[in-house]
Amino acid sequence: MSSTIISSSGYDIFIGAKVIEELNLFFNKPACKNAKLFVLVDENSLKHCLPVLSQKVGKIADASILEIESGEASKNIEVCTRLWRALGELGADRHSVLLNLGGGVIGDLGGFVASTYKRGIAYVNMPTTLLAQVDASVGGKVGVDLDHLKNEVGMFSAPEAVFIYPDFLKTLSRREMMSGFAEVVKHALIAEAAYWEFIQGANVGDDSVWEILIEKSVRIKNEVVMADPKEKDLRKSLNFGHTIGHAIESYFLESSGKSLLHGEAVAIGMIAEAFISFSKNKITKEDLDRIRIFILNRFGHIEIESFADHRLLELMSHDKKNSKGELNFTLLTGIGSCEVNKTADLSLVKEALKYYREALLHS
Ligand SMILES: NC(=O)c1ccc[n+]([C@@H]2O[C@H](COP(=O)([O-])OP(=O)(O)OC[C@H]3O[C@@H](n4cnc5c(N)ncnc54)[C@H](O)[C@@H]3O)[C@@H](O)[C@H]2O)c1
Ligand SMILES: [Zn+2]
Repeated sequence: MSSTIISSSGYDIFIGAKVIEELNLFFNKPACKNAKLFVLVDENSLKHCLPVLSQKVGKIADASILEIESGEASKNIEVCTRLWRALGELGADRHSVLLNLGGGVIGDLGGFVASTYKRGIAYVNMPTTLLAQVDASVGGKVGVDLDHLKNEVGMFSAPEAVFIYPDFLKTLSRREMMSGFAEVVKHALIAEAAYWEFIQGANVGDDSVWEILIEKSVRIKNEVVMADPKEKDLRKSLNFGHTIGHAIESYFLESSGKSLLHGEAVAIGMIAEAFISFSKNKITKEDLDRIRIFILNRFGHIEIESFADHRLLELMSHDKKNSKGELNFTLLTGIGSCEVNKTADLSLVKEALKYYREALLHS
């Protein structure tokens, strides 16, 4: 079997067990053959993923390895400065290539470092988490956080190519897998009823479905970003579940105690925003029930105290997408379709939070 190739804006996304061969071919191209290669990793991709490549990709043997600490806390400008210096000290020139081997943090940060070093050097992505494989690796957004503001500094910048090797997921924790699966659920809900039906029976622990999920999701995300490369309108469809989800993610972060992964917060957001879609007569009660039951079944129920509502609404209102006491949403118009730029007033959003809070009571 050969690898699947999906064309994006000016670059290809390779998916499957054979991508390692594609990576070898890529490094043998004239533009790369004599270029100095740098590989950006964190301690987890260094341990679990780099050895796989070292064995099978000749060019890796001569590469300089740049390591950062895992986690969102590394996605900042100080770490970029350290990496720009390291590139300089190790002799990177304008023809050098950076391979980003890791999750979304490595991809966003490495893409930004490469795109700015000497006004931009070539980079390729090899995403190693499900979230990065189905979401972060597509769309050309790179950047870093500024203090507590996520993705505040960055740009659109395309990689030379993306190589998605599903087997890397073998060492990923169940929790991280499920975080990526939330984006898969989102892709199905906003774009394709048949995909939604497929995931009803899909178990993310079963490696035989990984390639299907990755390919389907990458196709859906890629279609959306190609139609709206600079995030004018259509790309907002990818925000389904994220207006409420982001607020919940930030709330858990600031009220500490327990931290939620991005996908865990988006799963909550999708139930609440499906409720808003239902309240505005865009989806049926049956669809709402199916969405709630499936997501609760896969992700469980997270308790969010009612005293959090005030702060959650405040967090949503601060979001640049919102104005005039109303909040902006991407709402479902059925399972497999959606509409962007729909507003809901604060009282309906509060009702949606209550709906999630009491989700286990609905039958
Ligand atoms: N650019 C975009 O369009 C886009 C889209 C979505 C998310 N993002 C960004 O992606 C980031 C989140 O990505 P993420 O969820 O991949 O987080 P992450 O990069 O922090 O990875 C999650 C954890 O998994 C570990 N890991 C990575 N690969 C592994 C493997 N194969 N086996 C075992 N452990 C492994 C990492 O070291 C880390 O501890 C956020 O910063 C977010 O802003 C960007
Ligand atoms: Zn997301």
